[in-house]
Amino acid sequence: MPVSIENIVSLCKRRGFVYPGSEIYGGLANSWDYGPLGVELKNNIKQMWWNRFVHRRDDMVGIDAALIMNTKVWEASGHLKEFKDPLVECKKCHKRFRADDLKKDNCPDCGEKNAFDEAKDFNLMLKTHLGPLEDSASAVYFRPETAQSMFVDFKNIVSTTRKTLPFGIAQIGKAFRNEITPGNFIFRTREFEQMEIEYFIREEDWQKYFEHWRKEMMGWMEDIGIDLKYIHELEVPAESRAHYSKRTIDFEYDFPFGKKELYGLAYRTDFDLRSHDKFSGENLKYKDQQTNEEFWPHVIEPTWGVDRSVLAVLCSAYSEEGERKFLKLTPQLAPYKAAVFPLMANKDEIVDTAQKIYKDLRKEFMVAWDDRGNVGKRYYSQDEIGTPYCITIDYQTLEDGTVTVRDRDTAKQERISKDGLSDYIDSKIKQ
Ligand code: GAP
Repeated sequence: MPVSIENIVSLCKRRGFVYPGSEIYGGLANSWDYGPLGVELKNNIKQMWWNRFVHRRDDMVGIDAALIMNTKVWEASGHLKEFKDPLVECKKCHKRFRADDLKKDNCPDCGEKNAFDEAKDFNLMLKTHLGPLEDSASAVYFRPETAQSMFVDFKNIVSTTRKTLPFGIAQIGKAFRNEITPGNFIFRTREFEQMEIEYFIREEDWQKYFEHWRKEMMGWMEDIGIDLKYIHELEVPAESRAHYSKRTIDFEYDFPFGKKELYGLAYRTDFDLRSHDKFSGENLKYKDQQTNEEFWPHVIEPTWGVDRSVLAVLCSAYSEEGERKFLKLTPQLAPYKAAVFPLMANKDEIVDTAQKIYKDLRKEFMVAWDDRGNVGKRYYSQDEIGTPYCITIDYQTLEDGTVTVRDRDTAKQERISKDGLSDYIDSKIKQ
């Protein structure tokens, strides 16, 4: 990877993509806040995903469910029993680590040799209490994956939509895990967002739809500007798979800190519906209206981390050409689609015309205004945050109604009519 994580973290902080969480109080370990540009980038990723996988498909519906669910959900899903990582503690400095992250038996913190005893299981569910009493009866958990609400709401969805197999339920939302060793900026945090699909099928079709979703995930990565040469598929061996999975592929990305999981694709069988049926006492079988067969559908689950998407997109987009630094974000994902500059900030006619263009474009797109310094500095500033088009209004605009549009990636300029700007940007965003 050509970019270092330090470059990304510093750009994110400097330009308002991502700040350390609770910074004025000394921070809170591994918590991050998305700033004004970060929230735009993240929302654009989520919107693109929703358009692609929900709005443009006949076989998909979306939900937005509660973050805290009945504790029985986590008994049924197996998370209370199975969702754990192996934890070891250094005998000398008492620092705790995830055993499978350690390469040697030496403590990475204090250097103690043969520092660890046998690993203990550590459950990753994040606990809290609902209501005024903090007793065991009020203990509940934040969801560790968005997936379970798709199973818990399955019956309601089948009865309120006319969906027949195969069909999927999609959701974007927060998930929480009490990770032993969070880190690497927004890569692994205790609070993060997922975009998940539970795709319900007949058992005999699982391989066909596994392949379908594998291709869809690849297509998605290409569309958000990730170079597929940095993506590696890992066939997860049985002993490392989640308790519900019969087959899992991890899509790993060459992050600056190493090859790590970006997304996952799992065949969850009928494990979840069957288990919720048993624990809830509700019949969660699907009835085929033509054949009257009743069965628990099987499930293919493609899952995407939102924060890891943001990080992979930023790493992929980061470019340097000589002195020039720019974020080669696809126009769909760029926080600002264009920036408008008056050539001179002290010429009223130019500023007024530029303001009118800016205000008109702003009705349709996120557009930046910059009248500080010289045009070169403004280009530099917009390049760094990935604005694909910079529009300059000059004397010629007052005469013939044309403006210059400068392309971020090629740095080439062309003159176009100011009346054609909206269509011009629109066509680039929709490409
Ligand atoms: N429902 C299946 C599931 O949750 P997972 O592989 O544990 O599977 C799915 O998580 C995705 O969520 C991962 O591929 C990753 O992108 C993201 N993710 C998981 N843990 C995370 C964490 N601690 N911080 C940020 N993203 C995380």
